[in-house]
Amino acid sequence: MAENLTIIEHPLVQHKLSLMRRETTSTAKFRSLMTEISMLLAYEVTRDLPLRYETIQTPMAEMEAPVLAADKKLVVVSIMRAGQGILDGILQLIPSARVGHVGIYREPHSLVPIEYYFKVPDDTEERDMLVVDPMMATGNSAIAAVDRLKQTNPKSIKFLCILAAPEGIRHFQEHHPEIPIYTAAIDQGLDEHGYIIPGLGDAGDRLFGTK
Ligand code: URA
Repeated sequence: MAENLTIIEHPLVQHKLSLMRRETTSTAKFRSLMTEISMLLAYEVTRDLPLRYETIQTPMAEMEAPVLAADKKLVVVSIMRAGQGILDGILQLIPSARVGHVGIYREPHSLVPIEYYFKVPDDTEERDMLVVDPMMATGNSAIAAVDRLKQTNPKSIKFLCILAAPEGIRHFQEHHPEIPIYTAAIDQGLDEHGYIIPGLGDAGDRLFGTK
């Protein structure tokens, strides 16, 4: 399981995750925590973004300064609806990234993913893709989203979540072993409804105050 799996154990990430998990955390606080934690996770996920050098003038001298070589070439794909929380954080760091959306819901009895929306930029062949969904539970939605996204031939794909269940990671890696997964934590497992235990509840409901 350890291959292609990065657990981001930074103290700030772990602290913010514990605040998110708390039942008493308000919707507003949960939302801002998800933005903040996503920015911290994005720092690790984007570690290998290429740089190029351009000549700039500081108030003191001219220099060759490093800038992102391909910030516009990144496409962040949010698995709706909870992926939106991660997307907001990442776009604060990389505002020129392009954005895609995949709408998938889990049929409540079978937990089978059903696609109801799909929109990504036309030129994904030229783009590195970061797929985001805060919770990797059974892995079914992530697998279905990546199956579909692979049809658009992106240059590369990474998957970013905040919490994962061991079952979900195993399942995802059976289908997409080459895709790196980044997460802040791996929890105990799933309950009979496919929720992560101890988890943080329904990320979409907590993010949007529905329920
Ligand atoms: N989706 C969630 O939002 N929470 C879980 O625990 C599992 C899937």
